[in-house]
Amino acid sequence: MFRVIEINMFSKLFLICAFALAVTSQERLKVTLFYEGLCPYCHDFIIQQLYPGFKKLGNALDVDLVSVQHPKNNGSKIEWTCQHGPIECYINKVSACAIHVSDTQSKMMEYINCFLSDFDDDKSKEYEEELAKNCSAGNGLSWDNINSCLDKDVDNILLAYEQRKTKVQPPLEYVPAILFNDKHDIDIEFAARDDFLATACRLFKTKPKACLKTFLKN
Ligand SMILES: *[C@@H]1O[C@H](CO)[C@@H](O)[C@H](O)[C@H]1NC(C)=O
Ligand SMILES: *[C@@H]1O[C@H](CO)[C@@H](O)[C@H](O)[C@H]1NC(C)=O
Repeated sequence: MFRVIEINMFSKLFLICAFALAVTSQERLKVTLFYEGLCPYCHDFIIQQLYPGFKKLGNALDVDLVSVQHPKNNGSKIEWTCQHGPIECYINKVSACAIHVSDTQSKMMEYINCFLSDFDDDKSKEYEEELAKNCSAGNGLSWDNINSCLDKDVDNILLAYEQRKTKVQPPLEYVPAILFNDKHDIDIEFAARDDFLATACRLFKTKPKACLKTFLKN
């Protein structure tokens, strides 16, 4: 009688430990995206691939978003140029600040998905400003925090992004550029642009649940 109880206790403890281990040992896959605010393929990738993939994989992904633009030297004041003009620079800056002030990657992804999903390259600066505020209202980020980052921190954040961009090998010649676990592999990048979830799932050694469902479906 006593023995049976002991075994039960032991197996319960064992199950609890095994479960805790399974939870903490979920491998995380880092995905880095270098993008620009008005680049159509960047939008397509974020809205149609990365965001839905994140909704499935959650924190098994370590999402690293880097909105890039080019500094131009003008005395001590930093100025920026963007391929698609000043509104793109504004979108990049708001993105950088939303990334900077997000305390969870879920808030970051919801904000970026909201801010970039209403994509149209002939919208006015006023429209983008209103959208930037609207997106913070629904997504748990404080507009005051984003705005104060835009006043004070954004140049340094964007300079650090630019530094990171110059260090990638092989060198980045376009955006979107997608790296997994800090490696830039062109074949994997193009596979991810077509099907992010399947590509990410292939790269996990320990498959998250969402991946098992994906493979069953295929
Ligand atoms: C440098 O900054 C000044 C003052 O903001 C501006 O008038 C000028 O056009 C800028 N020059 C360049 C090359 O951007
Ligand atoms: C922002 O939200 C207001 C109030 O809901 C809405 O009227 C307006 O159209 C929104 N603007 C943008 C750019 O989404």
